[in-house]
Amino acid sequence: MMQPDLLSSRPVRAAASAVSPPTTRGFPLVGVLPHLLKDRLDYLLSARDELGDLYTIDLGLTRLVALNHPRHAQHVLRDNARNYRKGGAIWESIRSLIGNGLPASEGDLWLRQRRMIQPEFHRDRLAAMCDLMVQAIDDGMAGFGAAAAAGRPVNAERELPHITMKVILNTMFGSGITKEEADAVGGSLQYAIDYMLLGAALQGLPRWIPAPGRRRFERSVKMIDEHVFRFIAQRRAHPGRSGDLLAILLATVDAETGEQMTNQQLRDEAVSMFLAGYETTSVSLAWALHFLVANPELQQALVAEVDAALGDRRPGFADVSKLPLALAVFQEALRLYPPAYWIPRTAIEDDEIDGFRIPAGAMVGVMSYVLHRHPDHWETPARFDPGRFTPERARGRHPLAFIPFGSGQRQCVGKEFALMEGQLILARLLQRFRVSAVPGRTTRLHVATTLRTSGGVWLRLEPRPGR
Ligand code: HEM
Repeated sequence: MMQPDLLSSRPVRAAASAVSPPTTRGFPLVGVLPHLLKDRLDYLLSARDELGDLYTIDLGLTRLVALNHPRHAQHVLRDNARNYRKGGAIWESIRSLIGNGLPASEGDLWLRQRRMIQPEFHRDRLAAMCDLMVQAIDDGMAGFGAAAAAGRPVNAERELPHITMKVILNTMFGSGITKEEADAVGGSLQYAIDYMLLGAALQGLPRWIPAPGRRRFERSVKMIDEHVFRFIAQRRAHPGRSGDLLAILLATVDAETGEQMTNQQLRDEAVSMFLAGYETTSVSLAWALHFLVANPELQQALVAEVDAALGDRRPGFADVSKLPLALAVFQEALRLYPPAYWIPRTAIEDDEIDGFRIPAGAMVGVMSYVLHRHPDHWETPARFDPGRFTPERARGRHPLAFIPFGSGQRQCVGKEFALMEGQLILARLLQRFRVSAVPGRTTRLHVATTLRTSGGVWLRLEPRPGR
């Protein structure tokens, strides 16, 4: 059956009276690039203060229309989504790793795949995946355990990716995957993802020019493919009854066409899930821990919630709803530092937003980072305050004032999965350890593919008595 949300957009035409948006003033040829490279996000905040919610960023050779109001997000991601596609160098580069996987595909192929994949993330499926997830979290937490036992401080930003990678591998391929396989795939993926973004900058170069790192990128993709195709072949040979994602995707049939996914499409979707779902979750959890250790009262309240809900037993799916503060802490970290800090699109036809003309071919960006700090929608926006997400305080807020997972037809398919994972990782960590900051260590924002830190998030962990 067709998902009603998937095709809900209607085209809007630009009115003749629309005017061009105000533009940032920059240097000849390079525009405001030097400012952006220096302090990208502060620059975007101050440009909004100066020019308003919608303005054009002059990048020298190219331009980007910055959209900073929930109303704009509503227009581009929902009401007129059909007029905005995922195009340009960055998406070409991403396709070199994930092929026709869901995040990069468009049109009929995207719709067919989305129809098949979306139901696999519904509540009953998540319930079935919860045990695999908790097992992976416990296995992945070995590094935290070792540091606590040795009394060594640990950089959570380095440790958390081991957990989130294990979670995605186990839930995707089942717990049968060995540690060696997980490490091999994990290492290659990490390299390929980092290279891919550099790849966007190198797109213009002919392939015979030996771009730095390209050979290793190609070797990494080959290694990922060998493993993933082998997992697929094994599972086709022995389907079994496991609840992991691969088993489910292998059995999925498109209700309209009766077709199943090919091995290549399965590979593309599996690699897409890694790309979309592993660093995003780990980096936002690192921020959540950064704020938790800076705020001992909040941490105490969270420990009390976790102890009341779980004691020292392993959480199950029914416990997830008993951890609202864990959810709010994770959401507040996603508000202040959304890993996908802007959502790029290209206009297909002329359009109009808030009375401004958006010409066909214009690159637009929904600036989640700025929108999440919009003073009309968030009180004292720079403050870490999970209480904003209680139903009482969230009442009346624009539904698109908080969009870490995007919105509309391309909204993150793994949203509920990621939120559950965040809650469970925080709960499991606080069940086992008392967590505090390491004096003298400072965490600063480092803008990369996602919003990472420079300096890491250093923690001191103490095993809790009896745990
Ligand atoms: C905190 C964690 C996560 C964040 C912040 C996040 C963020 C996002 C955002 C903003 C988009 C939309 C991009 C756009 O509209 O251009 C997206 C799409 C997507 N995400 Fe996530 N994501 C997270 C976790 C996950 C996980 C765990 C999975 C899979 C298990 C996943 C799978 C996907 C896929 C497949 C898409 C493409 C959907 C489509 O285009 O139809 N994500 N994500």
